[in-house]
Amino acid sequence: MARRAAGRFVGWFRPVRNTGSGTLQDQLYTAIRRAVLGGELAAGERLPSSRALASDLGLGRNTVVAAVERLTAEGYLTSRRGAGLFVAADLPVEDLRPPADSRPPILSRRSAAAPDLHAEREPALLRPFALGTASLDAFPLELWRRLAVQTLRRRPGDLLGYGDPRGLPALRQALATYLADSRGVVCSPETVMIVSGAQQALDLIARLLLDPGDVAAVEDPGYAGARDALASAGARLVPVAVDNQGFDPAILAGLSPAPKLAMLTPSHQFPLGMTLPASRRLALLAEARSRGIWIVEDDYDCEYRYGGPPLQALQGLDGGERVLYVGTFSKVLFPGLRLGYVVLPEPLVDGFLRLKTAADGFAPGWPQAILAEFIAQGYLAQHIRRMRVLYRRRRSALLTAIERHAGDLLVPRLSEAGLHLTVEFRDGRDDKKASRALQEAGLTVGPLSRYAVARGLSGLLLGFAAFPEAELEAAVQRLVSVLR
Ligand SMILES: Cc1ncc(COP(=O)(O)O)c(C=O)c1O
Repeated sequence: MARRAAGRFVGWFRPVRNTGSGTLQDQLYTAIRRAVLGGELAAGERLPSSRALASDLGLGRNTVVAAVERLTAEGYLTSRRGAGLFVAADLPVEDLRPPADSRPPILSRRSAAAPDLHAEREPALLRPFALGTASLDAFPLELWRRLAVQTLRRRPGDLLGYGDPRGLPALRQALATYLADSRGVVCSPETVMIVSGAQQALDLIARLLLDPGDVAAVEDPGYAGARDALASAGARLVPVAVDNQGFDPAILAGLSPAPKLAMLTPSHQFPLGMTLPASRRLALLAEARSRGIWIVEDDYDCEYRYGGPPLQALQGLDGGERVLYVGTFSKVLFPGLRLGYVVLPEPLVDGFLRLKTAADGFAPGWPQAILAEFIAQGYLAQHIRRMRVLYRRRRSALLTAIERHAGDLLVPRLSEAGLHLTVEFRDGRDDKKASRALQEAGLTVGPLSRYAVARGLSGLLLGFAAFPEAELEAAVQRLVSVLR
Protein backbone atom coordinates (compact mmCIF):
# COMPACT_ATOMS: atom_id res chain seq x y z
CA MET A 1 0.00 0.00 0.00
CA ALA A 2 2.91 2.21 0.74
CA ARG A 3 3.41 4.23 -2.45
CA ARG A 4 -0.22 4.93 -3.38
CA ALA A 5 -1.38 5.69 0.16
CA ALA A 6 1.20 8.45 0.60
CA GLY A 7 -1.03 10.59 -1.69
CA ARG A 8 -3.61 10.88 1.10
CA PHE A 9 -0.91 12.28 3.34
CA VAL A 10 -0.28 15.05 0.84
CA GLY A 11 -3.97 16.00 1.15
CA TRP A 12 -3.77 16.09 4.96
CA PHE A 13 -0.44 17.84 5.05
CA ARG A 14 -1.12 20.67 2.58
CA PRO A 15 -3.73 22.62 4.60
CA VAL A 16 -1.61 22.44 7.75
CA ARG A 17 1.42 23.55 5.78
CA ASN A 18 -0.52 26.50 4.38
CA THR A 19 -1.14 27.88 7.88
CA GLY A 20 2.64 28.33 8.08
CA SER A 21 2.77 27.87 11.84
CA GLY A 22 5.45 25.77 13.54
CA THR A 23 8.29 23.80 11.97
CA LEU A 24 7.80 21.28 9.15
CA GLN A 25 8.09 18.54 11.72
CA ASP A 26 5.30 20.16 13.81
CA GLN A 27 3.14 20.50 10.73
CA LEU A 28 3.51 16.86 9.73
CA TYR A 29 2.88 15.76 13.31
CA THR A 30 -0.32 17.86 13.37
CA ALA A 31 -1.54 16.56 9.99
CA ILE A 32 -1.10 12.89 10.93
CA ARG A 33 -2.53 13.34 14.42
CA ARG A 34 -5.57 15.07 12.96
CA ALA A 35 -6.08 12.22 10.47
CA VAL A 36 -5.90 9.67 13.28
CA LEU A 37 -8.32 11.56 15.56
CA GLY A 38 -10.66 12.27 12.68
CA GLY A 39 -10.81 8.56 11.81
CA GLU A 40 -9.36 9.09 8.34
CA LEU A 41 -6.50 6.84 9.35
CA ALA A 42 -8.18 3.78 10.80
CA ALA A 43 -7.09 2.05 14.01
CA GLY A 44 -4.44 -0.56 13.19
CA GLU A 45 -3.89 0.78 9.65
CA ARG A 46 -0.40 0.52 8.28
CA LEU A 47 1.44 3.72 7.34
CA PRO A 48 3.71 4.19 4.32
CA SER A 49 7.41 4.00 5.03
CA SER A 50 9.07 7.16 6.22
CA ARG A 51 11.13 7.17 3.04
CA ALA A 52 7.94 7.12 0.90
CA LEU A 53 6.34 9.86 3.01
CA ALA A 54 9.44 12.03 2.77
CA SER A 55 9.55 11.70 -0.97
CA ASP A 56 5.81 12.33 -1.56
CA LEU A 57 5.65 15.28 0.82
CA GLY A 58 8.90 16.80 -0.35
CA LEU A 59 10.35 16.64 3.17
CA GLY A 60 13.69 15.52 4.53
CA ARG A 61 13.70 11.99 5.90
CA ASN A 62 14.85 13.22 9.30
CA THR A 63 11.84 15.52 9.52
CA VAL A 64 9.47 12.62 8.86
CA VAL A 65 11.29 10.31 11.27
CA ALA A 66 11.16 12.95 14.03
CA ALA A 67 7.41 13.56 13.53
CA VAL A 68 6.71 9.82 13.50
CA GLU A 69 8.78 9.28 16.65
CA ARG A 70 6.78 11.94 18.43
CA LEU A 71 3.48 10.35 17.38
CA THR A 72 4.78 6.98 18.51
CA ALA A 73 5.95 8.34 21.86
CA GLU A 74 2.50 9.85 22.45
CA GLY A 75 0.77 6.60 21.56
CA TYR A 76 -0.95 7.54 18.30
CA LEU A 77 1.29 5.19 16.27
CA THR A 78 3.04 1.95 17.10
CA SER A 79 6.01 0.53 15.35
CA ARG A 80 6.44 -3.22 14.93
CA ARG A 81 9.96 -4.35 14.26
CA GLY A 82 10.28 -5.64 10.73
CA ALA A 83 6.59 -4.99 9.91
CA GLY A 84 6.48 -1.16 9.80
CA LEU A 85 4.42 1.61 11.37
CA PHE A 86 0.74 1.32 12.36
CA VAL A 87 -2.00 3.49 13.80
CA ALA A 88 -2.48 2.35 17.41
CA ALA A 89 -5.24 -0.22 17.62
CA ASP A 90 -6.74 0.91 20.93
CA LEU A 91 -7.57 4.58 20.38
CA PRO A 92 -11.22 5.33 21.28
CA VAL A 93 -11.45 8.12 18.70
CA GLU A 94 -15.18 7.59 18.07
CA ASP A 95 -15.86 8.90 21.56
CA LEU A 96 -14.45 12.27 20.53
CA ARG A 97 -16.68 12.79 17.52
CA PRO A 98 -19.82 14.86 18.06
CA PRO A 99 -22.99 12.76 18.26
CA ALA A 100 -25.15 12.79 15.13
CA ASP A 101 -27.82 14.98 16.77
CA SER A 102 -25.23 17.49 17.92
CA ARG A 103 -26.88 20.22 20.02
CA PRO A 104 -25.37 23.46 21.29
CA PRO A 105 -23.80 23.14 24.74
CA ILE A 106 -26.34 23.45 27.54
CA LEU A 107 -25.52 26.33 29.89
CA SER A 108 -26.44 26.37 33.53
CA ARG A 109 -29.51 28.52 34.23
CA ARG A 110 -27.33 31.04 36.04
CA SER A 111 -24.91 31.52 33.19
CA ALA A 112 -27.70 31.64 30.64
CA ALA A 113 -29.28 34.46 32.68
CA ALA A 114 -26.02 36.41 32.84
CA PRO A 115 -26.15 39.37 30.48
CA ASP A 116 -23.59 39.82 27.77
CA LEU A 117 -21.64 42.61 29.42
CA HIS A 118 -18.40 41.92 27.61
CA ALA A 119 -20.13 42.57 24.29
CA GLU A 120 -20.96 46.09 25.47
CA ARG A 121 -17.50 46.96 26.71
CA GLU A 122 -15.91 49.63 24.58
CA PRO A 123 -12.64 48.70 22.95
CA ALA A 124 -9.71 50.04 24.93
CA LEU A 125 -9.45 52.96 22.50
CA LEU A 126 -8.91 56.21 24.30
CA ARG A 127 -11.12 58.45 22.18
CA PRO A 128 -13.14 61.37 23.46
CA PHE A 129 -15.49 60.81 25.57
CA ALA A 130 -14.42 57.34 26.76
CA LEU A 131 -16.26 56.68 30.01
CA GLY A 132 -14.79 56.59 33.49
CA THR A 133 -11.22 56.76 32.27
CA ALA A 134 -8.62 58.58 34.35
CA SER A 135 -5.91 60.66 32.71
CA LEU A 136 -3.39 57.91 32.21
CA ASP A 137 -0.67 60.21 30.89
CA ALA A 138 -0.82 62.24 34.10
CA PHE A 139 -0.06 59.10 36.13
CA PRO A 140 3.36 59.21 37.89
CA LEU A 141 4.73 56.21 36.05
CA GLU A 142 8.39 56.85 36.91
CA LEU A 143 7.58 56.88 40.62
CA TRP A 144 5.51 53.68 40.24
CA ARG A 145 8.42 52.02 38.44
CA ARG A 146 10.80 53.00 41.26
CA LEU A 147 8.46 51.58 43.91
CA ALA A 148 8.08 48.43 41.81
CA VAL A 149 11.82 47.85 41.80
CA GLN A 150 12.18 48.66 45.51
CA THR A 151 9.39 46.35 46.65
CA LEU A 152 10.63 43.46 44.59
CA ARG A 153 14.18 43.93 45.81
CA ARG A 154 13.10 44.07 49.42
CA ARG A 155 10.73 41.12 49.64
CA PRO A 156 10.85 38.92 46.55
CA GLY A 157 9.97 35.79 48.55
CA ASP A 158 6.67 37.23 49.87
CA LEU A 159 5.62 38.55 46.52
CA LEU A 160 6.38 35.70 44.18
CA GLY A 161 4.65 32.96 46.15
CA TYR A 162 0.99 32.27 46.91
CA GLY A 163 -0.67 35.13 48.73
CA ASP A 164 -3.29 35.78 51.38
CA PRO A 165 -6.88 35.61 50.01
CA ARG A 166 -7.70 38.69 52.11
CA GLY A 167 -4.97 40.63 50.33
CA LEU A 168 -1.46 41.71 51.24
CA PRO A 169 -1.41 42.70 54.94
CA ALA A 170 0.59 45.87 54.21
CA LEU A 171 -2.00 47.02 51.70
CA ARG A 172 -4.95 46.26 53.99
CA GLN A 173 -3.23 48.22 56.74
CA ALA A 174 -2.49 51.21 54.49
CA LEU A 175 -5.99 51.14 53.03
CA ALA A 176 -7.72 50.86 56.41
CA THR A 177 -5.92 53.99 57.57
CA TYR A 178 -6.61 55.83 54.31
CA LEU A 179 -10.33 54.93 54.23
CA ALA A 180 -10.85 55.86 57.87
CA ASP A 181 -9.09 59.22 57.43
CA SER A 182 -10.42 60.26 54.06
CA ARG A 183 -13.86 58.68 53.95
CA GLY A 184 -14.86 58.07 57.55
CA VAL A 185 -15.11 54.33 56.87
CA VAL A 186 -15.29 52.22 60.03
CA CYS A 187 -12.81 49.41 59.44
CA SER A 188 -9.69 47.54 60.48
CA PRO A 189 -7.22 45.59 58.33
CA GLU A 190 -9.22 42.46 59.30
CA THR A 191 -12.38 43.68 57.59
CA VAL A 192 -10.72 45.14 54.47
CA MET A 193 -10.49 42.60 51.61
CA ILE A 194 -8.53 43.14 48.42
CA VAL A 195 -10.25 41.99 45.23
CA SER A 196 -9.64 42.05 41.48
CA GLY A 197 -11.51 45.27 40.82
CA ALA A 198 -14.85 46.43 42.22
CA GLN A 199 -16.56 44.15 39.71
CA GLN A 200 -15.23 41.10 41.54
CA ALA A 201 -16.44 42.55 44.83
CA LEU A 202 -19.95 42.97 43.40
CA ASP A 203 -19.92 39.44 41.99
CA LEU A 204 -18.70 37.82 45.22
CA ILE A 205 -21.12 39.83 47.35
CA ALA A 206 -24.03 38.77 45.15
CA ARG A 207 -23.07 35.13 45.54
CA LEU A 208 -22.35 35.52 49.24
CA LEU A 209 -25.73 36.96 50.15
CA LEU A 210 -28.22 35.81 47.54
CA ASP A 211 -29.80 32.52 46.61
CA PRO A 212 -31.31 32.18 43.15
CA GLY A 213 -34.68 33.92 43.15
CA ASP A 214 -33.85 36.29 46.02
CA VAL A 215 -34.83 39.90 45.47
CA ALA A 216 -32.18 42.61 45.05
CA ALA A 217 -32.99 46.32 44.68
CA VAL A 218 -30.96 48.32 42.16
CA GLU A 219 -30.91 51.96 41.14
CA ASP A 220 -32.76 52.88 37.96
CA PRO A 221 -30.85 54.12 36.06
CA GLY A 222 -27.85 52.39 37.56
CA TYR A 223 -24.56 50.68 36.93
CA ALA A 224 -24.98 47.80 34.47
CA GLY A 225 -22.03 45.92 35.98
CA ALA A 226 -23.84 45.73 39.34
CA ARG A 227 -27.03 44.47 37.74
CA ASP A 228 -25.06 41.89 35.79
CA ALA A 229 -23.29 40.57 38.89
CA LEU A 230 -26.63 40.21 40.65
CA ALA A 231 -28.34 38.61 37.67
CA SER A 232 -25.49 36.12 37.31
CA ALA A 233 -26.12 35.04 40.90
CA GLY A 234 -29.74 34.34 39.95
CA ALA A 235 -31.19 37.36 41.78
CA ARG A 236 -34.56 38.85 40.91
CA LEU A 237 -33.86 42.53 40.29
CA VAL A 238 -36.25 45.23 41.43
CA PRO A 239 -35.45 48.63 39.92
CA VAL A 240 -35.84 51.62 42.25
CA ALA A 241 -36.23 54.84 40.26
CA VAL A 242 -33.78 57.51 41.42
CA ASP A 243 -35.05 61.08 41.65
CA ASN A 244 -33.13 64.36 41.95
CA GLN A 245 -31.74 63.30 45.30
CA GLY A 246 -30.81 59.76 44.25
CA PHE A 247 -32.03 56.47 45.74
CA ASP A 248 -35.35 56.85 47.55
CA PRO A 249 -35.63 54.87 50.82
CA ALA A 250 -39.41 55.38 50.79
CA ILE A 251 -39.61 53.18 47.67
CA LEU A 252 -37.46 50.58 49.39
CA ALA A 253 -39.81 50.67 52.39
CA GLY A 254 -42.75 49.96 50.09
CA LEU A 255 -41.23 46.85 48.53
CA SER A 256 -42.77 43.59 49.59
CA PRO A 257 -41.17 41.21 50.21
CA ALA A 258 -38.18 43.17 51.49
CA PRO A 259 -35.19 42.76 49.19
CA LYS A 260 -32.30 40.91 50.71
CA LEU A 261 -29.90 43.48 49.39
CA ALA A 262 -29.83 46.94 47.79
CA MET A 263 -26.92 48.13 45.65
CA LEU A 264 -26.37 51.84 45.27
CA THR A 265 -23.89 54.65 44.56
CA PRO A 266 -24.63 57.24 47.29
CA SER A 267 -21.60 59.56 46.81
CA HIS A 268 -22.05 60.06 43.10
CA GLN A 269 -25.06 58.34 41.62
CA PHE A 270 -24.09 56.38 38.53
CA PRO A 271 -24.86 57.58 35.90
CA LEU A 272 -26.80 60.75 36.83
CA GLY A 273 -24.36 62.19 39.35
CA MET A 274 -26.41 63.37 42.35
CA THR A 275 -25.32 62.85 45.96
CA LEU A 276 -27.58 61.14 48.47
CA PRO A 277 -28.45 63.64 51.22
CA ALA A 278 -28.03 62.90 54.92
CA SER A 279 -31.77 62.59 55.57
CA ARG A 280 -32.08 59.81 52.99
CA ARG A 281 -28.93 58.11 54.24
CA LEU A 282 -30.34 57.90 57.74
CA ALA A 283 -33.75 56.74 56.52
CA LEU A 284 -32.08 54.10 54.36
CA LEU A 285 -30.02 52.75 57.24
CA ALA A 286 -33.07 52.66 59.52
CA GLU A 287 -34.96 50.72 56.86
CA ALA A 288 -32.02 48.34 56.34
CA ARG A 289 -31.80 47.61 60.04
CA SER A 290 -35.48 47.13 60.66
CA ARG A 291 -36.02 44.82 57.68
CA GLY A 292 -32.62 43.09 57.61
CA ILE A 293 -31.56 44.45 54.22
CA TRP A 294 -27.89 44.47 53.27
CA ILE A 295 -26.74 47.72 51.64
CA VAL A 296 -23.91 47.61 49.12
CA GLU A 297 -22.29 51.04 48.85
CA ASP A 298 -20.39 51.27 45.56
CA ASP A 299 -18.06 54.24 46.09
CA TYR A 300 -16.40 53.94 42.67
CA ASP A 301 -15.15 57.52 42.12
CA CYS A 302 -15.73 59.23 45.46
CA GLU A 303 -12.28 60.84 45.46
CA TYR A 304 -13.19 63.30 42.77
CA ARG A 305 -15.46 66.00 44.17
CA TYR A 306 -14.95 69.46 42.79
CA GLY A 307 -17.23 71.55 44.96
CA GLY A 308 -15.75 70.72 48.38
CA PRO A 309 -14.12 67.95 50.39
CA PRO A 310 -15.10 64.33 49.64
CA LEU A 311 -18.23 63.20 51.42
CA GLN A 312 -18.11 60.75 54.26
CA ALA A 313 -19.19 57.26 53.37
CA LEU A 314 -22.62 55.85 54.20
CA GLN A 315 -20.78 52.91 55.76
CA GLY A 316 -19.33 55.16 58.46
CA LEU A 317 -22.79 56.36 59.49
CA ASP A 318 -23.86 52.79 59.98
CA GLY A 319 -20.78 51.76 61.95
CA GLY A 320 -20.16 48.97 59.43
CA GLU A 321 -23.14 46.81 60.46
CA ARG A 322 -25.40 46.49 57.43
CA VAL A 323 -23.29 48.25 54.80
CA LEU A 324 -20.72 46.53 52.58
CA TYR A 325 -18.42 49.24 51.26
CA VAL A 326 -16.88 48.70 47.80
CA GLY A 327 -14.14 50.77 46.17
CA THR A 328 -11.74 50.55 43.25
CA PHE A 329 -8.38 51.86 42.10
CA SER A 330 -9.55 51.81 38.47
CA LYS A 331 -10.67 55.44 38.53
CA VAL A 332 -8.22 56.95 40.96
CA LEU A 333 -5.12 55.25 39.49
CA PHE A 334 -5.56 53.06 36.40
CA PRO A 335 -7.90 50.21 35.46
CA GLY A 336 -5.07 47.91 34.32
CA LEU A 337 -4.03 47.65 37.98
CA ARG A 338 -7.20 45.56 38.49
CA LEU A 339 -7.35 46.09 42.22
CA GLY A 340 -10.37 47.00 44.28
CA TYR A 341 -11.47 46.48 47.87
CA VAL A 342 -14.42 45.76 50.03
CA VAL A 343 -14.95 46.56 53.69
CA LEU A 344 -17.22 43.93 55.20
CA PRO A 345 -19.33 43.64 58.33
CA GLU A 346 -17.33 41.29 60.53
CA PRO A 347 -19.77 38.31 60.35
CA LEU A 348 -19.45 38.20 56.54
CA VAL A 349 -15.67 37.96 56.39
CA ASP A 350 -15.26 34.16 56.50
CA GLY A 351 -17.91 33.42 53.89
CA PHE A 352 -16.49 36.07 51.61
CA LEU A 353 -13.01 34.59 51.91
CA ARG A 354 -14.29 31.15 50.99
CA LEU A 355 -15.77 32.54 47.78
CA LYS A 356 -12.73 34.68 46.99
CA THR A 357 -10.47 31.67 47.39
CA ALA A 358 -12.71 29.55 45.18
CA ALA A 359 -12.87 32.31 42.54
CA ASP A 360 -9.19 33.11 42.04
CA GLY A 361 -7.23 32.34 45.19
CA PHE A 362 -5.88 35.81 45.88
CA ALA A 363 -5.04 39.07 44.14
CA PRO A 364 -1.51 39.27 42.67
CA GLY A 365 1.03 40.23 45.33
CA TRP A 366 3.46 42.50 43.57
CA PRO A 367 0.98 45.16 42.42
CA GLN A 368 -0.49 45.15 45.93
CA ALA A 369 2.95 45.74 47.44
CA ILE A 370 3.64 48.67 45.12
CA LEU A 371 0.24 50.13 45.89
CA ALA A 372 0.74 49.72 49.64
CA GLU A 373 3.92 51.80 49.42
CA PHE A 374 2.22 54.31 47.14
CA ILE A 375 -0.49 54.86 49.76
CA ALA A 376 1.70 54.67 52.87
CA GLN A 377 4.19 57.20 51.51
CA GLY A 378 1.41 59.70 50.80
CA TYR A 379 1.58 59.50 47.01
CA LEU A 380 -2.05 58.47 46.61
CA ALA A 381 -3.32 61.54 48.46
CA GLN A 382 -0.92 63.73 46.45
CA HIS A 383 -2.01 62.20 43.13
CA ILE A 384 -5.68 62.71 43.99
CA ARG A 385 -5.04 66.38 44.85
CA ARG A 386 -3.27 66.95 41.52
CA MET A 387 -5.89 65.12 39.51
CA ARG A 388 -8.71 67.00 41.20
CA VAL A 389 -7.27 70.28 39.92
CA LEU A 390 -6.75 68.86 36.44
CA TYR A 391 -10.19 67.25 36.21
CA ARG A 392 -11.96 70.31 37.57
CA ARG A 393 -10.47 72.33 34.71
CA ARG A 394 -11.41 69.71 32.14
CA ARG A 395 -14.93 69.39 33.46
CA SER A 396 -15.47 73.10 33.35
CA ALA A 397 -14.03 73.25 29.78
CA LEU A 398 -16.54 70.57 28.78
CA LEU A 399 -19.43 72.41 30.39
CA THR A 400 -18.42 75.66 28.69
CA ALA A 401 -18.12 73.96 25.30
CA ILE A 402 -21.54 72.35 25.69
CA GLU A 403 -23.08 75.66 26.66
CA ARG A 404 -21.41 77.40 23.74
CA HIS A 405 -22.12 74.84 21.00
CA ALA A 406 -24.96 72.64 22.17
CA GLY A 407 -27.08 74.61 24.64
CA ASP A 408 -30.21 74.11 22.53
CA LEU A 409 -29.58 70.39 22.16
CA LEU A 410 -28.27 69.08 25.47
CA VAL A 411 -28.92 69.74 29.16
CA PRO A 412 -26.07 68.75 31.49
CA ARG A 413 -27.05 67.08 34.77
CA LEU A 414 -25.31 69.19 37.31
CA SER A 415 -23.06 67.10 39.45
CA GLU A 416 -19.96 68.23 41.25
CA ALA A 417 -18.07 64.97 41.09
CA GLY A 418 -16.67 62.16 39.02
CA LEU A 419 -14.94 61.57 35.72
CA HIS A 420 -17.92 61.93 33.40
CA LEU A 421 -20.76 64.31 32.73
CA THR A 422 -24.23 63.08 31.86
CA VAL A 423 -26.21 65.21 29.41
CA GLU A 424 -29.84 64.74 28.42
CA PHE A 425 -31.33 65.41 25.00
CA ARG A 426 -33.79 68.27 25.03
CA ASP A 427 -35.79 66.61 22.26
CA GLY A 428 -35.74 63.13 23.89
CA ARG A 429 -34.43 61.50 20.71
CA ASP A 430 -33.32 57.86 20.42
CA ASP A 431 -29.98 58.01 22.25
CA LYS A 432 -28.83 54.56 21.15
CA LYS A 433 -29.09 55.62 17.53
CA ALA A 434 -27.29 58.88 18.32
CA SER A 435 -24.57 57.00 20.15
CA ARG A 436 -24.01 54.68 17.19
CA ALA A 437 -23.66 57.65 14.82
CA LEU A 438 -21.18 59.28 17.22
CA GLN A 439 -19.17 56.07 17.51
CA GLU A 440 -18.89 55.97 13.75
CA ALA A 441 -17.64 59.54 13.80
CA GLY A 442 -14.79 58.56 16.15
CA LEU A 443 -16.33 59.52 19.50
CA THR A 444 -16.78 56.99 22.31
CA VAL A 445 -20.15 58.06 23.66
CA GLY A 446 -22.50 55.76 25.53
CA PRO A 447 -26.29 56.25 25.56
CA LEU A 448 -27.92 57.05 28.92
CA SER A 449 -30.76 54.62 28.22
CA ARG A 450 -28.27 51.72 28.42
CA TYR A 451 -28.27 52.18 32.20
CA ALA A 452 -32.02 52.41 32.63
CA VAL A 453 -34.16 49.41 33.52
CA ALA A 454 -37.78 50.56 33.50
CA ARG A 455 -37.46 54.23 32.60
CA GLY A 456 -37.41 56.15 29.37
CA LEU A 457 -34.27 58.27 29.43
CA SER A 458 -32.48 59.90 26.57
CA GLY A 459 -28.99 61.29 26.88
CA LEU A 460 -25.26 60.68 26.64
CA LEU A 461 -22.42 59.97 29.04
CA LEU A 462 -19.35 62.06 28.33
CA GLY A 463 -16.09 61.04 30.00
CA PHE A 464 -13.85 64.10 30.28
CA ALA A 465 -10.99 63.27 32.65
CA ALA A 466 -8.59 61.79 30.10
CA PHE A 467 -8.80 64.63 27.57
CA PRO A 468 -7.12 68.05 27.50
CA GLU A 469 -9.36 71.11 27.27
CA ALA A 470 -8.66 71.83 23.60
CA GLU A 471 -9.47 68.24 22.66
CA LEU A 472 -12.74 68.42 24.58
CA GLU A 473 -13.73 71.65 22.82
CA ALA A 474 -13.00 70.11 19.38
CA ALA A 475 -14.79 66.90 20.33
CA VAL A 476 -17.92 68.80 21.41
CA GLN A 477 -17.95 70.57 18.05
CA ARG A 478 -17.68 67.23 16.28
CA LEU A 479 -20.42 65.79 18.50
CA VAL A 480 -22.72 68.67 17.70
CA SER A 481 -22.13 68.45 13.97
CA VAL A 482 -23.05 64.73 14.03
CA LEU A 483 -26.14 65.30 16.17
CA ARG A 484 -27.53 68.13 14.06
C1 LIG B 1 -20.39 52.62 39.22
C2 LIG B 1 -19.23 51.71 39.01
N1 LIG B 1 -19.00 50.74 39.90
C3 LIG B 1 -17.99 49.87 39.75
C4 LIG B 1 -17.15 49.93 38.67
C5 LIG B 1 -16.13 48.84 38.50
O1 LIG B 1 -14.83 49.17 38.65
P1 LIG B 1 -13.67 48.10 38.47
O2 LIG B 1 -12.89 48.56 37.28
O3 LIG B 1 -12.88 48.17 39.71
O4 LIG B 1 -14.26 46.76 38.28
C6 LIG B 1 -17.32 50.93 37.73
C7 LIG B 1 -16.44 50.98 36.54
O5 LIG B 1 -16.71 51.58 35.54
C8 LIG B 1 -18.40 51.85 37.90
O6 LIG B 1 -18.62 52.82 37.01
